[in-house]
Amino acid sequence: MCAKQVKKEAAQVETTGHSWDGIEEYNNPLPRWWVWILYACIVWGIWYSIAYPAWPLVTQATQGYLGYDNRQAVAAEIKRFDDANAEIKAKLIAAPLTGIAGNDELNQYATAAGAAVFKTWCAQCHGSGAAGVQGKGYPNLTDNDWLWGGDMESIYTTINHGIRNTTDADARYSEMPKFGADQLLDETQIGQVVEYVLQLSGQEHDAALASAGQTVFTDNCAACHMEDGSGDRAQGAPALNDAIWLYGGDRETIHATVYGARFGVMPAWAGRLSEDEVRAVATYVHSLGGGE
Ligand code: HEC
Ligand code: HEC
Repeated sequence: MCAKQVKKEAAQVETTGHSWDGIEEYNNPLPRWWVWILYACIVWGIWYSIAYPAWPLVTQATQGYLGYDNRQAVAAEIKRFDDANAEIKAKLIAAPLTGIAGNDELNQYATAAGAAVFKTWCAQCHGSGAAGVQGKGYPNLTDNDWLWGGDMESIYTTINHGIRNTTDADARYSEMPKFGADQLLDETQIGQVVEYVLQLSGQEHDAALASAGQTVFTDNCAACHMEDGSGDRAQGAPALNDAIWLYGGDRETIHATVYGARFGVMPAWAGRLSEDEVRAVATYVHSLGGGE
């Protein structure tokens, strides 16, 4: 700005009377639009702090006369979905277990709801794709190799009551003896029977030891794993004549299993999940490919 202009404006606008080294301060009013926005903000702020929860007090904040509550809003939203699904949930609970898959509407709902239940409650053990965790005793639920049974009723019972847990009196239960730790078999016999299990599952083995091991097997193992090693679902005894392993099929792991046994535990879900959720997740597991 040139000196001439400054002089002209200085003549029109009052100054505050301050002067520093000849520099003066104009006393311009605030722009009107700015002042109105400021007033509007103040009014809105007062209204908001009365209408909504705002001021923290000793135990809780002021409630606000509109009575708005985040928690209630979420609860209402959940209730809205529950109400929308109430009818189909009731149908799912009423349907015979074996009739769900054949009913398109129920099957579609149960598989989708069951997949969500599975991701929340089952995936940490069985894996997000339900393929289990190899070597850790968490079975693959997508194949047709079942410990306790793969029809709808068996799956439903397994999920409801769990396996070898201490919380459900109806949990599936069985216990493989600790042949080594409890000295039921000596080290020679264990070495023999391990070779026989390797032979049963079609793996490389010592033929002489395995043939001695067959006797050990018949006397000690066949009651649960069956003479041919095909397993017994009534006792949750896995098949040993295939390539599918819960804990592992190499010589060392089989030795460890025979020596100290295994005791896979699954929690019971009745009570934690609602009846429709148990049925939904059973339908989902049954649909994964191995359902019978
Ligand atoms: C804490 C880990 C854990 C969780 C969580 C878990 N399971 Fe399991 N589940 C197991 C174990 C371990 C076994 C195998 C037990 C055995 O050795 O007999 C098993 C076995 C099963 C079986 C039997 C498979 C067969 O071959 O007969 C089914 C079905 C099953 N689980 C479904 C589920 C579903 C559905 C959920 C979620 C609602 C779930 N599991 C949650 C650990 C778990
Ligand atoms: C009382 C019944 C019972 C007897 C007897 C028994 N088992 Fe088992 N066995 C089981 C059960 C049940 C499991 C599964 C344990 C689990 O799921 O945690 C199992 C698991 C195994 C496994 C692990 C399989 C895998 O997939 O990882 C091997 C190997 C095995 N048994 C071998 C034997 C041998 C060898 C003998 C005889 C020396 C024997 N069992 C005797 C019930 C029995």
